[in-house]
Amino acid sequence: MTTAANEKLLGGLDYQTFLNEYWQQKPLLIRQAFSGSPLAISPEALAGIACDTDAPSRLVIEQGETPWESLFGPFDDNTFAQLPDSHWTLLVNDLECYIPEAADIIQHFRFIPDWRIDDLMLSYAVKHGSVGPHTDEYDVFLIQTSGKRHWKIDTNEHYLSELLPDCSLSILKHFETSHDWVLEAGDMLYLPPNLPHYGIAKDDQCMTLSVGFRAPSQQELISAWLESASNNPKFKQRYSDKKRSLQQQAAEITKNDIAALSKMILEGIDHEKEHLSLWLGKYLTEAKGDPIDDQNIFNETSPHDEVFIRQHWLRLAYFENNNTLDFFADGIHYQLSHPEKEAIFYLCQHYRYSKSQIAHYCQGSTFNTIFNDLLEKGGIT
Ligand code: SIN
Ligand code: CO
Repeated sequence: MTTAANEKLLGGLDYQTFLNEYWQQKPLLIRQAFSGSPLAISPEALAGIACDTDAPSRLVIEQGETPWESLFGPFDDNTFAQLPDSHWTLLVNDLECYIPEAADIIQHFRFIPDWRIDDLMLSYAVKHGSVGPHTDEYDVFLIQTSGKRHWKIDTNEHYLSELLPDCSLSILKHFETSHDWVLEAGDMLYLPPNLPHYGIAKDDQCMTLSVGFRAPSQQELISAWLESASNNPKFKQRYSDKKRSLQQQAAEITKNDIAALSKMILEGIDHEKEHLSLWLGKYLTEAKGDPIDDQNIFNETSPHDEVFIRQHWLRLAYFENNNTLDFFADGIHYQLSHPEKEAIFYLCQHYRYSKSQIAHYCQGSTFNTIFNDLLEKGGIT
């Protein structure tokens, strides 16, 4: 990433200043973060993805059968034929797995670690189309890729959080505008989590790309961790109370019993604590949902035989130790010695790989195993 590219994307700010002053804190509007549209996809092509693939998709119709009616894909042509002339939006998630040109846009945001990136969502709205005033629990960069959208935000931290009753979407009942702008192709708006925002399409060409981030909740982490820990055979031991003292009241749970049972839980957690970093590496690289295979209608094929391509569902990460490197790919852990780390850096940094470079790195036996595993599961083609 060059400094010039960095300054343009963030409107003259360097990454560290953005991280210090805006990330997770306050919104930032960047005019022409991209020079014009960074992505040329027609509304018809987007509708095609919503009809023909498993990409999560939604239609939001402001005055449908109910206010803010939402319908979930996959859709068919009939659904689109019956839509009103205005006031609706189509939203498609996981676009990076379907459109290589969209996936390339993620490269601009790799000043945030890969594991924090959730997905790309593209919306297409006809005039007045909107998903209503709402907040999101995640950071988002909203990039206008075509047409115009009027964005209103509310920076008042004491905004009214009451939601519209009886509505399938979480729409704010009250919305005050503190700032508003019309975004055109190439403009970008960064929003921190939980900031009320309301975007309304100004025309029938309005397309907005959302770069969404992942911020696991404590609940999600704990339950996923406990699920994996509970499969540990070490935890098969059962409570035992040989030579227990006779107690007077059968209904009493004695202090000794509470202490013994608590010890079983806390010792289990203590034992698992050591393995937490490995568990996190695996958990954070697990693919979302099922791997996408030949139904990927826009699947990128190698431009020539000299290149391998990484599929965007495949998440890779690593961390370094003194003498080893722990590498994670789609929830699988591999340990390598330091001489092979350059190969892992190459694998993680890129999405297209030179076959001759890979052949060179495959002289390392662990890397060779890893690369063949990834080819076999289709994460690299
Ligand atoms: C949209 O693209 O219509 C909605 C994006 C958002 O508000 O997060
Ligand atoms: Co939003």
